[in-house]
Amino acid sequence: MKTVGIVGARGHTGAELIRLIAAHPRLELAFVSSRELDGQRVAEHVAEYAGALHYANLDAGQAARRGADAVILALPNDKAAPFVAALDVAAPDTVIVDLSADYRFDDAWYYGLPELTRMRYTGQRRISNPGCYATAMQLAIAPLKDRLAGPPVCFGVSGYSGAGTTPSDRNDPHQLRDNLMPYQLTGHMHEREASRQLGLPVEFMPHVAAYFRGITLTVNLWLTQPLRVEDVRALYRERYAGEPLLRVLDAAPWVSRVAGHHHAEIGGFTASADGRRVVVVVTLDNLLKGAATQALQNLNRAFGFEESAGIPPAGEP
Ligand SMILES: NC(=O)c1ccc[n+]([C@@H]2O[C@H](COP(=O)([O-])OP(=O)(O)OC[C@H]3O[C@@H](n4cnc5c(N)ncnc54)[C@H](OP(=O)(O)O)[C@@H]3O)[C@@H](O)[C@H]2O)c1
Repeated sequence: MKTVGIVGARGHTGAELIRLIAAHPRLELAFVSSRELDGQRVAEHVAEYAGALHYANLDAGQAARRGADAVILALPNDKAAPFVAALDVAAPDTVIVDLSADYRFDDAWYYGLPELTRMRYTGQRRISNPGCYATAMQLAIAPLKDRLAGPPVCFGVSGYSGAGTTPSDRNDPHQLRDNLMPYQLTGHMHEREASRQLGLPVEFMPHVAAYFRGITLTVNLWLTQPLRVEDVRALYRERYAGEPLLRVLDAAPWVSRVAGHHHAEIGGFTASADGRRVVVVVTLDNLLKGAATQALQNLNRAFGFEESAGIPPAGEP
């Protein structure tokens, strides 16, 4: 058994991580840190958790000294550094998986989108977990990346859990009711992240909708050479064959069908009459394949377990 501490355990992704780790055959929770829930029983907040653990309000030094084999940071952006610094000093061999964007542009950290980057994993103890939209964009674009005539254009819609628990317009169900809210239509963090990882400029226009979880990303791709839609579909099937958490479909995937599930779905392949413009649709659960499940894939690799250990198979909640 390996032990895992979660910092930011009250949040949406923190709660999903508690569920996954509690059910994992080879992991156990060392601590779950939250300022707001300090002292409260975890089982009161996460129904699936049956253990006796209580939340604790741990500062960076206290979290580092708990001696966990891994620490997952599920904090808002710009909060990870003190925890990383304390772990660097007190427990440098501890595996850190950071869910924020803080180290996604840092070459000293492994960027863990396993289906696309696992060949670059060489035992790093510092792992940066990709953004949810950035995961969807990269999965949609990677198979056609070397055939593009221009920047891919990505239209994204997310449920409001993507905005975390700190109150804002983007997670206020009243403002979102009967509404689709566009925001940060150029220069979004995930646009820069996907562009950097893919090595090409990506254009991304995010929106928030009135449902809780899940992302639909529709990607428009201009090609240098025409392709038939069946060839495009075959290309994706071949590229993602054997990936337990990626499903390639003929039909366009529906976000309602992937919410609460651990895999991503890619489909809806459509080509223009001249075959130079292709559209691909990806759906995934932002809290799972877009965050907690992907973190668990990364953690499994870091511990030398099978990458999918403790992750329910595609299609099962
Ligand atoms: N939501 C998603 O779909 C998603 C997907 C991929 C990646 N991410 C990334 O994952 C991270 C967590 O996202 P989330 O949606 O789970 O956020 P969240 O629901 O807002 O939760 C944030 C957590 O951090 C704690 N926290 C906030 N400020 C803190 C501080 N200054 N020091 C210590 N703890 C603090 C909060 O708990 P207390 O206030 O109780 O301490 C809470 O547990 C973010 O960086 C986010 O960008 C999120």
